[in-house]
Amino acid sequence: MQIQNFFISENKKNIQKNKLRLKHRKIVSKLNPLKVHSKKIMNDYKKFGLNYFDNSKIGIGYGNYVKDNRFKEPISKILNYFKIKSNSKVLEIGCAKGFILYEFQKKKMNVYGVDISNYAIKTSLETVRNKIILKNLAKKKFFRDNYFDFIICKEVLPHLSKKEIKQLIVNINAISNDSKKIYFIIQVPSMKKYKQNFKNWDITHKSIMTKTEWIEFLKKNKFKGKVSFKELV
Ligand SMILES: C[S@@+](CC[C@H](N)C(=O)[O-])C[C@H]1O[C@@H](n2cnc3c(N)ncnc32)[C@H](O)[C@@H]1O
Repeated sequence: MQIQNFFISENKKNIQKNKLRLKHRKIVSKLNPLKVHSKKIMNDYKKFGLNYFDNSKIGIGYGNYVKDNRFKEPISKILNYFKIKSNSKVLEIGCAKGFILYEFQKKKMNVYGVDISNYAIKTSLETVRNKIILKNLAKKKFFRDNYFDFIICKEVLPHLSKKEIKQLIVNINAISNDSKKIYFIIQVPSMKKYKQNFKNWDITHKSIMTKTEWIEFLKKNKFKGKVSFKELV
């Protein structure tokens, strides 16, 4: 079930950047953001608003989430690995500003996105904006059964409760036409003892599990696709 994380590049420059990011997160995640930042900022942050994506002053969240080339190579590798043909119907759950969808679109895929962030959709790339709907698939299926050839969900599941994830898997299994072509990328703490740091780093995280716990949970809930992990703290 577990495969390499296509979003983690092995080139030296990126390894160095990631080390710096990890160091930064280790420091920031020792503080409880609810005690550090104003209620107004944190309420917006919790709704995946501007402060979640684009406030570079608070030291948490994305800082300034703008399009760069970071997803180009990973998407090529993913298309290859999962043997996805041109014109396939590709769904991204939790697509935020559509940067990943854009790369799939460039490769001639029929893209669809869902997200619960009004702000992210409003500020998404224009070429994919009309492909994104403001919906929570953990609540309802919204699409026809067997509709999608490939489904990707990157760094979203920990933002859902376990009950929501279970329902999301049921819904995804129904709307996918090949349960092996579902790809989850999940952010995790590197060790059990860092679970609180993980929560501090992003208070919107609700389900915090280690890699082993996730694999057990996914198997138990009939997930048949592939999963990769990214250690945040
Ligand atoms: C950490 S961001 C990841 C964004 C994008 N997948 C990426 O990797 O760049 C988490 C995203 O999940 C979205 N999200 C959180 N809960 C969701 C839900 N129940 N359904 C759909 N999207 C959700 C948030 O709005 C946010 O855009």
